[in-house]
Amino acid sequence: MRNHIAWRRAALAGLAAALLGAAPGAAAQPTAARQAQLAHWLRDDCGACHGMTLGGGLGPPLTREALSGKPPEGLVATVLYGRPGTAMPPWQPFMTQDEAQWLIDRLQAGKPPAASPQGN
Ligand code: HEC
Repeated sequence: MRNHIAWRRAALAGLAAALLGAAPGAAAQPTAARQAQLAHWLRDDCGACHGMTLGGGLGPPLTREALSGKPPEGLVATVLYGRPGTAMPPWQPFMTQDEAQWLIDRLQAGKPPAASPQGN
């Protein structure tokens, strides 16, 4: 009986650790298919305004340098809700907060996801 309880404790601790593994602040990783979709949008849609290489155009550059020091929450909000009164549209209908967070994480790390050469 004692062993049984110890086992349950261990299982519960493992479960708690797994849940906490989704650490606060860290966005859930989109699936591979969603990553490909986001990369495709980044190049074709975001790129239409921010430049194919994200170096800027109608919209400001989205390079690591340009985004350095900017609070990620604000950038994620810009992606989700757009900037009213500017050309920056809201992307909330198309992506979740975690996905916008993932894109901003990658952009701020200077590692924008690359769309596959075959196109998506
Ligand atoms: C139709 C043009 C357009 C498209 C499409 C567009 N943006 Fe923008 N974006 C802008 C403009 C213009 C601004 C600057 C708004 C301002 O003046 O504050 C901006 C601002 C931003 C900012 C804030 C940059 C900063 O330094 O504060 C981020 C981040 C951003 N866009 C990401 C994206 C992403 C990611 C996509 C694609 C999912 C996207 N944008 C698509 C025009 C666009």
